[in-house]
Amino acid sequence: MKIAVMTSGGDSPGMNAGVRAVVKKGIYHDLDVFGIYRGFEGLMENDVKQLELKDVGSIIHRGGTVLYSARSERFKTPEGQAQAVEVLKQHGIEGVVVIGGDGSYRGAQKLHENGIRAIGLPGTIDNDIRGTDYTLGFDTAMNTVIQAIDNIRDTASSHERTYVVEVMGRDAGDIAAWCGVGGGAESILLPEVESSRDDMITRIQEGFKRGKKHSIIIVAEGAGSGDEIGRYIKEKTNFDTRVTILGHVQRGGSPTALDRMLGSRLGARAVELLMEGESGKALGLEKNQISVHDFDYVVQDKENDDIKDLYKLAIELSI
Ligand code: ADP
Ligand code: F6P
Repeated sequence: MKIAVMTSGGDSPGMNAGVRAVVKKGIYHDLDVFGIYRGFEGLMENDVKQLELKDVGSIIHRGGTVLYSARSERFKTPEGQAQAVEVLKQHGIEGVVVIGGDGSYRGAQKLHENGIRAIGLPGTIDNDIRGTDYTLGFDTAMNTVIQAIDNIRDTASSHERTYVVEVMGRDAGDIAAWCGVGGGAESILLPEVESSRDDMITRIQEGFKRGKKHSIIIVAEGAGSGDEIGRYIKEKTNFDTRVTILGHVQRGGSPTALDRMLGSRLGARAVELLMEGESGKALGLEKNQISVHDFDYVVQDKENDDIKDLYKLAIELSI
């Protein structure tokens, strides 16, 4: 049997562990494993090559993706999808493991509908995918953010300033909420929680009255721009305020143990599913067990009640 693996959408630390696991597990079971380079764009252009064990040597500890990643508008068209299926058929590839976010899952669903077996692995730092407790790269990104917050706290405390730190997450507030709690932020702003901007001003002022000399405010990019929030705080409080936008620094770096484990476990399970003839499924980790859901289920918006609990906890712990 011939199978392939690809990475698509925004890259994330741990994707390489997933690619490595697919290749090693496949070869261990005598499958031919192909790498599709540059996501769906590369697939349509036949940027496809059979992989050997040496191609995935010494990549488990590297961020990014050795298969490169891309976003492709052309693949969203029926013509683009037909072209991709044609390329796969030319190579005799029966099944594809797609590592990416929900957009990539929608693409994988199209392969499935066109008769190519497709299995998805959740690869995004945003942690915004339904049917998994963690996405690949979320833990690494959080550790990067926490380290940055620690560094900022040192200078915030020396200069008795208020710092706004804008973090990624697209429309999801997971990175902000987890790092707000884990980094001991005074306030967090999340797209999932309304009217938190006024709460933030009140909390900064109350903290100041209690003797706090500095504050750290974490803003999820989906909740507003760090610069704008910084100006708002300055206007309302007149405190000396600085803004840091962490940006793409959050997307790189050597994956944590959790992300390496997640990529390895899910990558290997994806190969098993393809060998069992499964298709149209996305893998995740729920309560430390590998879970399998239909693409239709995972591409829907994630219910995110946990984040509201985290927000409440952040408030309780930031007094
Ligand atoms: P992510 O996978 O990180 O969510 P994107 O949303 O950019 O990233 O999606 C990655 C790629 O998946 C897109 O560039 C496109 O090629 C493909 N894709 C996204 N949505 C669809 C769709 N509805 N149909 C087919 N392909 C899609
Ligand atoms: O989905 C991952 C992510 O890093 C988001 O957190 C962010 O909004 C987006 O991708 C940035 O995309 P780009 O790399 O295209 O600027």
